[in-house]
Amino acid sequence: MNGAEGERLVGAEAGERDTGETGIRPKSLAEFVGQAEERRNLAVYIEAARRRGEALDHVLFHGPPGLGKTTLSQILAGELGVGFRATSGPVIAKAGDLAAILTHLQERDVLFIDEIHRLNPAVEEILYPAMEDFQLDLVIGEGPAARSVRIDLPPFTLVGATTRSGLITTPLRERFGIPIRLNFYTVEELELIVKRGAGLLGMQLAPDGAREIAMRSRGTPRVAVRLLRRVRDFAEVAGADVIDRIKADGALNRLAIDGRGLDGMDRRYLLCIAETFGGGPVGVETIAAALSEPRDAIEEIIEPFLVQQGLVQRTPRGRIATPLAYDHLGLATPKGYAGRDQGDLLDLGEAGE
Ligand SMILES: Nc1ncnc2c1ncn2[C@@H]1O[C@H](COP(=O)(O)OP(=O)(O)OP(=O)(O)O)[C@@H](O)[C@H]1O
Ligand SMILES: [Mg+2]
Repeated sequence: MNGAEGERLVGAEAGERDTGETGIRPKSLAEFVGQAEERRNLAVYIEAARRRGEALDHVLFHGPPGLGKTTLSQILAGELGVGFRATSGPVIAKAGDLAAILTHLQERDVLFIDEIHRLNPAVEEILYPAMEDFQLDLVIGEGPAARSVRIDLPPFTLVGATTRSGLITTPLRERFGIPIRLNFYTVEELELIVKRGAGLLGMQLAPDGAREIAMRSRGTPRVAVRLLRRVRDFAEVAGADVIDRIKADGALNRLAIDGRGLDGMDRRYLLCIAETFGGGPVGVETIAAALSEPRDAIEEIIEPFLVQQGLVQRTPRGRIATPLAYDHLGLATPKGYAGRDQGDLLDLGEAGE
C-alpha cells in the first residue's frame, strides 16, 4: 500500500470519527452482524481462553477494507475482558519502538497491529520470539560494547489486520494460530446493519429504504453506514421525515452510486477494460497507468468486490471484463468473446497479490 492510498483510508476513518462513527461501531460479538461462522468460532476460542485464564492465541484478520477487522479486534479485547492497545505496521519504525510497546503490555492484553503487512523487517524479527515464546531479544549498545539481553514478556494476544494477506511473510503468517478471512456481506446482513444504524441515528427508515441502501453498499458495512448518513442528509434538507425506497434511491443516484452499488471509480475501471482495452486480458499495471490510480488501490479496494460480483476475472494474462460487466455498463459484448481460450478464464482469486 503506498502513501496516496494510505491517506485515502486514513481520511475515510477520520471522517467516520468526526461524524460520531464510534457510536455505530458494534461493541460486542452479539451486536456484530454477519460473518456468522467466524463469529461462532471466535466465541468458542474466547470462552476457552477465559476458562483457562490464558491469553487468546494470536489472531490475524484479513480481507478488503471496511469489513470489520478493526471492529472485531476491539470486540475481542472487550469479550476477553482485557486491555486493548492499538498501533499500526508503518508507525513502528524501529525494533526499540516495538520493544517499548511490548514491555508495557499487561498480562493477556490484546495488542492490535493494523496494516501488519507494512512492518519493517527488522521489527518483524523481534516479533517472532515475542509471539512464540513471549520473549524479547534485544541488542543494547553498539560495536564491541554491544550485548544482547532477553526480556520475558507477559503472555499477550497479538491481533493483526491486513487488506493484503499475500504480502505477509510466511514466518509471520504461520505464527498466528487463528487466521480469519472476512468476506463481503450479504444484502440481508447489510440491511440489518443499516436498520441498526438508523435506530442509533434516530432516523425513520422504511424497510424498503433500508433494503435499497443495503443493496447499494458494495457488500461493505463501512459503505453502508456512510451511505446511510448521506441519505439522511438529503432527506433532512428536503424536509422528508420517513425515508423510503424512492427517497433513498434519489439520494444514492445523486451520489452516483448505481443499482449494483458501484461508484464512479468502479465504473471507470470497468469501462477501461471493456472499452479502452477491448475487454482484456489487460495487466493491472496497464490499467493503473490508464486510470492514473495506484496499483495497490486497484487491487485492494476496487477489484475484490468486482471479482466477487463476477464483473471481472483475474487471469494469468490479465484482467478480463465478463459479459455481465458489458451488460451492466449497457454495452454490447464484443464479437468473439466466447471464443477466448479456457486458460484465460481460470480465475486466480487473490493472485494479484
Ligand atoms: N458487522 C458489522 N456490523 C455493524 N457495523 C459494522 C460491522 N462491521 C463493520 N461495521 C462498521 O463499519 C465500519 C468499518 O469497520 P472497520 O473499521 O472495523 O473495518 P476494517 O476492516 O478495519 O477496515 P480497514 O481495512 O479500512 O481498516 C465500522 O466503523 C463499523 O461502524
Ligand atoms: Mg481497520
